[in-house]
Amino acid sequence: MLRHIIILIFILSIAPVTFTENLSPKDIIEKRCSVCHSTNRVYDTKKSKTEWETTFDRMTNYGAKFGQDEREAVIKYLSEKNIPGDLQH
Ligand code: HEC
Repeated sequence: MLRHIIILIFILSIAPVTFTENLSPKDIIEKRCSVCHSTNRVYDTKKSKTEWETTFDRMTNYGAKFGQDEREAVIKYLSEKNIPGDLQH
């Protein structure tokens, strides 16, 4: 019983850290990109990896803020996933 409580406390204490570090690309888009426009704007757009990089530079110029690893994760996700007609948002 005591062991379970200790394990539970341990899980609760590391949980917030784990969540912020393991944001999925979707969560990042939800958090970082919806500040200025709807996420549909992101999901309804199809671009290659290079085009997304250019777009991210532009968003950064507008004031968008995201970590370098977030940027890479989202660019990878969007350039691989965003196929026209894909409604699995
Ligand atoms: C600081 C505000 C801001 C943030 C944050 C922001 N954007 Fe934008 N975004 C804009 C503005 C302003 C426009 C319209 C002007 C334009 O298209 O350049 C736009 C337009 C777009 C477009 C449509 C134009 C195109 O190039 O196809 C896409 C796609 C886009 N943003 C993606 C993103 C993504 C992905 C993120 C998150 C990583 C993001 N934006 C975060 C300001 C922002």
